Amino acid sequence: MAVSEEKQMIVNGKRLDGRGFNDLRPISIKAGVLKRANGSALIEWGRNKVLAGIFGPREVVPRHMTNPKRAIIQARYIMAPFSGQEEHGRSGPNRRSMEISKVAKHVFENVVMTNMFPKTMINVDMEVLQSDGGTRVAAITAASVALADAGIPMKDLVCGVSTGRINGQLVVDLDKTEDNYGESDMPLILSPRTGEVLLHQIDGKLTKEEIAQAMDMSFEASKKIHELQVAALKGRYERVLAETENGNNGGGN
Ligand code: CDP
Repeated sequence: MAVSEEKQMIVNGKRLDGRGFNDLRPISIKAGVLKRANGSALIEWGRNKVLAGIFGPREVVPRHMTNPKRAIIQARYIMAPFSGQEEHGRSGPNRRSMEISKVAKHVFENVVMTNMFPKTMINVDMEVLQSDGGTRVAAITAASVALADAGIPMKDLVCGVSTGRINGQLVVDLDKTEDNYGESDMPLILSPRTGEVLLHQIDGKLTKEEIAQAMDMSFEASKKIHELQVAALKGRYERVLAETENGNNGGGN
């Protein structure tokens, strides 16, 4: 989404919203927000708001896609018509949303223990309600929590962040203005436990050294995101426990 116009986005060593180069936007995650989904999470990440819902493991539709050895993952990333800042309200499935859905599917195929659920499918739906740059990493981060909320075994609770270059400086977690006017943007999805990189995209150009440095900055930032994911799941279980003790059957709100 980078555009060529020059825009000053670093003033006195700070970014336009006051953040330092390694700072994330404020992030809050809540697990178990939908009653009918098997697992769910809502993430608010800066001005981004993304809802993730899981349905499954369930019967495969259409049936011919059934894999006798493992579950298949169907991922869908979509932007609500009112989610963008552009007046033309671009929404619905398009090349971009299909690409993001596809890369999210690959992430989860490498993380979910699909061999435990042969002949089933797991739907991972990510609905962008409001967007401000970095929605793909926010969506996959939320979906990871939603999968854990659904009780689906995974190798790790993966999370992501985008690091890129603005005015010649590497910065963590670009917002839409930084993404639009910056030189490059590198979204990553990481496994904090194994140190694996599950998704690595680059929009624009970065040198080999910058990629290595951006990778380190992303791994460092991912620690905080991972903590928030774990806290969201703990919060969910505490709520379920309190509801059960009160004679209520829990299950989202
Ligand atoms: O959201 P992410 O950074 O993963 O993807 P992007 O393609 O780099 O888009 C950057 C931002 O542009 C999004 O977060 C949205 O705020 C905005 N955008 C939009 O409003 N409508 C689109 N169809 C595509 C992007």
